[in-house]
Amino acid sequence: MLRPWHLSLALTRGKKSVSQQIVHAVIEDVRRGRLAPGFPLPGSRELGETLGINRKTVMDAYAELEAQGWVSTQTRRGTFVAENLPQLENVSVDKRSRSRTIPLEPSFKLSRPEVTLAADLPPSKWLSFNDGAPEIRHVPIEAVARAYRNGLRSTLQLRRLGYGDPRGSEGLRSALAAMLTADRGLAAGADNICLTRGSQMGIFLAAQTLINPGDTVVVETLSYPPAREAFRRVGAEIATVHVDDDGINVEDLERVCRRKRVRAVYVTPHHHFPTTVCMTPERRMRLILLAAQFGFAIIEDDYEHEFHFSHQPMLPLASFDTAGHVIYVGSLSKLLSPSLRLGYVCAPKSLIDRMAGEVMMIDRQGDPAMEAAITELIEAGEIHRHTRKMLRHYIERRAKFADGLNAVLRGRARFNVPDGGLAFWVRFDGIDLKRLVARCREKQLHIQMPDAFSSSGQAVGALRLGFASLDVKELAAATARLGAALAETKR
Ligand SMILES: Cc1ncc(COP(=O)(O)O)c(C=O)c1O
Repeated sequence: MLRPWHLSLALTRGKKSVSQQIVHAVIEDVRRGRLAPGFPLPGSRELGETLGINRKTVMDAYAELEAQGWVSTQTRRGTFVAENLPQLENVSVDKRSRSRTIPLEPSFKLSRPEVTLAADLPPSKWLSFNDGAPEIRHVPIEAVARAYRNGLRSTLQLRRLGYGDPRGSEGLRSALAAMLTADRGLAAGADNICLTRGSQMGIFLAAQTLINPGDTVVVETLSYPPAREAFRRVGAEIATVHVDDDGINVEDLERVCRRKRVRAVYVTPHHHFPTTVCMTPERRMRLILLAAQFGFAIIEDDYEHEFHFSHQPMLPLASFDTAGHVIYVGSLSKLLSPSLRLGYVCAPKSLIDRMAGEVMMIDRQGDPAMEAAITELIEAGEIHRHTRKMLRHYIERRAKFADGLNAVLRGRARFNVPDGGLAFWVRFDGIDLKRLVARCREKQLHIQMPDAFSSSGQAVGALRLGFASLDVKELAAATARLGAALAETKR
């Protein structure tokens, strides 16, 4: 039977498939009233012949229309315009069908102020003094791949490839606890560990479990922006305390504690971010005493513990804590690779259990096969070997970078060779850093503007220059570009 409706469709060649063109033409006819609810559509063979296309294409279009609720198919009777059409008042199908990209803005409002953090990544061919990333070209990928394959096999055999413990696998938690106990003096057990996707997630979990809206969190005047943002996100009021060559100024901190009820203090005592300063033992002791006196939590972010050059790494604050003041956050990002996304929190068990509840809401759990792989790499001594190897590279790079900087800075900036960590903090005297960074970018050298490090909004007169991810030749080239940019930048 010939139906009294003709699809007004001139097929075009373009981005839109033929099947999509049919879908949009039918919807448009429904919207314009050419097709009423219950109206029978031509059979797929018939419409295919009319349009000179394969019947299957029409069937695909009808299936899509049915999935969207525009038509219904009745066995042996055919396809009909749906009786209950989707609600599309005030929305022009015409406009929708012409613009097939997802709109830039959603049609609804979003909650809370937006997070101001954005990844500032250089184009791939550029050199970059990043904020302290490790050298990833030396990651022992064969060993990691072998361990991952073993990890997949063993987790499958042990039936652990499904949902598991939100704190992470028992094996890796035990291995990390043993490492923290042997190397960092923490006296931790597996129940004190929650695995995370990097230390950033550990900081976020600490913020979630600790902070109520309006609570005061102290950070240093210069600090790690994503940590600060995590505290702000849960409603913390940020108070700032100065940091000097000995670490956080504990007298200032005490004054803040006398004025406000401080809930947490976030520090990077081993290698302060961004200034690289190592907190002195006296300040560490004083900080723990203040935590006991005023009842705040210390969030100790030990993001690059192993890479200390002048002497053995200093023991973390957490190793002196016998009363549960410290939430210790660590990571394998600098040790192996940031893309592994493997970090951990070490804290009293009840807090770890609370964090496990938060993990259930965020990402449920980590990757058990990767956790098994890392356990194997730790137990086989592979991670230790890699650390020792990288330490040698970084010591050489640090020395070469210091020489290179001295040669190009010509008294226009000052720096201390850092005792540890993967970056230098270079203070420029009276130089417009915005201009300097822009000049560097013209020379395809990427440096992060330091403004974001400031917790108080004050201008920062120094740059954090990560040296570790550039080899000696690249460091020389990058340093020369910095020198040339500096020569072009007036005071
Ligand atoms: C001070 C500090 N904390 C935390 C992190 C986050 O590291 P991840 O989440 O990769 O472990 C970084 C990364 O650079 C950092 O510099």
